[in-house]
Amino acid sequence: MQIITDPTQMQRLSREIHRGGKRLGFVPTMGALHAGHISLVKTARQQCDVVAASIFVNPLQFGPTEDFSKYPRTFERDCEMLTAEGVAYLFAPTKETMYPADAKTIVEVHDISDKLDGVSRPGHFKGVTTVVAKLFNIVQPDRAFFGQKDAAQVAIIRRMVRDLNMDVEIVVCPIVREPDGLALSSRNTYLDPQQRKQALVLSRTLNRIHYEYDRGERNASALIQIGKQVVAEEPGAKLDYLEIVDRDSLDPVESVSHGALVAIAAWVGTTRLIDNLLL
Ligand code: PAJ
Repeated sequence: MQIITDPTQMQRLSREIHRGGKRLGFVPTMGALHAGHISLVKTARQQCDVVAASIFVNPLQFGPTEDFSKYPRTFERDCEMLTAEGVAYLFAPTKETMYPADAKTIVEVHDISDKLDGVSRPGHFKGVTTVVAKLFNIVQPDRAFFGQKDAAQVAIIRRMVRDLNMDVEIVVCPIVREPDGLALSSRNTYLDPQQRKQALVLSRTLNRIHYEYDRGERNASALIQIGKQVVAEEPGAKLDYLEIVDRDSLDPVESVSHGALVAIAAWVGTTRLIDNLLL
């Protein structure tokens, strides 16, 4: 695997790949890789001739009191994992290369960036869309692979790609979970053994809502009430949001139908975790 830190070199490589008639797949990440990230790489390998990944802990998407400095960084191990999966190129820029001091441009998707995680993480999605737009311009992939784990991120990136006529196909891959249901996340490493158990309240809440939906409940408020009760029974967790929304607009729905998105975020100690379910 070739590691590239310079955007111009990455663009040059991408042009060469395309000149050779090959399809380039791209998996953007912030590193601290786990089986969730690797599932995206595997799908990219199946669908594309050449796969590039990126590792960049993007300062722009962290709030001033968030975990940017303590975010896990496991670069060597990440490189081994990506190499083993047949990734050809890793784009791993410094923050000075990505954000020169005189940079003045941001990419912002209005309205939907202020929903779900956007409420308690103001400016977060503006940071995500800015970095993803830059990464798309640098890597110039045919297809880019994202996880359903970050459902709001998926909706916002899809909208950005559509609104700005970006020439990239977005592929969304299913959530990878631990055997007990906890969605894999780089932030799970923050949890101590007790919190690790408490963190199961997220998937338990979603499962309960799924169950009630399968039994015929279609009223969103009723389903949310049932879900909130499940969260309340776990004193170790504090709910940030539990919402049932349209998967594209992220607007709340009143009557739940097939394809609605149930999204939850909760604090376990000082760790904020998210999870979701597509009905
Ligand atoms: P990061 O949190 O590293 O996630 C990189 C990709 O892996 C995202 O598309 C995310 O949805 C996916 N992913 C994470 N956990 C997953 C799981 N359990 N199952 C399936 N996919 C999973 O998301 C980001 O980085 C950043 O916001 C980024 C898009 C790289 C922009 O900085």
